[in-house]
Amino acid sequence: MPKLHLIYFSPTGTTRKTVTGIAGGMGAGQTTTYDLTLPDAMPEAVLKDGAAIIGVPVYAGRVPELFLRRLRGISSCGVPAVLVAVYGNRAFEDALVELRDVATAKGFKVIAAAAFIGEHSFSTSTLPIATGRPDGDDLKLAAVFGERVAAKIARGALDTPMIDGQTPYREGMKAGKMAPETDSAACTLCGACATACPAGAIRVAARVTTDAAGCIWCCACVKACKTGARTLNPPGIVALRERLHDQCGTPKAPRFFL
Ligand SMILES: Cc1cc2nc3c(=O)[nH]c(=O)nc-3n(C[C@H](O)[C@H](O)[C@H](O)COP(=O)(O)O)c2cc1C
Repeated sequence: MPKLHLIYFSPTGTTRKTVTGIAGGMGAGQTTTYDLTLPDAMPEAVLKDGAAIIGVPVYAGRVPELFLRRLRGISSCGVPAVLVAVYGNRAFEDALVELRDVATAKGFKVIAAAAFIGEHSFSTSTLPIATGRPDGDDLKLAAVFGERVAAKIARGALDTPMIDGQTPYREGMKAGKMAPETDSAACTLCGACATACPAGAIRVAARVTTDAAGCIWCCACVKACKTGARTLNPPGIVALRERLHDQCGTPKAPRFFL
């Protein structure tokens, strides 16, 4: 595999880890990374050779809308693409078929896809959900998947596999009315939350303020906060977190579509 393009959106880092693990298995000579996580990431590129790995977290069974916006400037002339959806051990639903359709419309040739598990963005120490994933076993499987993709490319098999999920896609997420809060007694105004925010929705001055209309609930700010001052605890999210903790405790295994 001479050249590999890594394209991903990963507010809390599990998608990035998984994509990197798959890339390791594919054994690329040269890697270019398009990290679309932060607001200043609006790359313009037409990918003409090599292969691409395109990775997203699953949001309400769909592809995150911010990722779709930031992908706008990227297209391809038939470069083989491997799709990766990372989900919090509930379900990936229509995310991979949506990503397949988006990648195909942008000129990629989808040749493989996988669903991996990542620690749920809403997971907390008291209500853990898929904590620590992708773990060592997941990353070994990511490398195995990468090897199998590289072997498929090497034998010239560029067919698009059947991928689980449905069209029309399920209804996506409607964020915008709530956002994490900052406990000013614990906040040191270090700005890590604002730096980590993919939506550019956090301002740090004499105190931290968040534009709820821009917030996507990704919890990058919560996980970046070193003092635990930042939390996402509106009643709807607390109830969902409890449900996910109760109902999604059995670890799921990654799925490959090749
Ligand atoms: C708004 C939102 C919606 C989510 N929806 C789902 C879902 O439908 N199914 C699921 O299993 N996990 C869901 N998750 C969990 C993420 O897919 C999971 O934590 C993923 O590993 C996060 O990726 P990242 O670390 O790259 O940000 C959701 C997370 C957020 C923030």
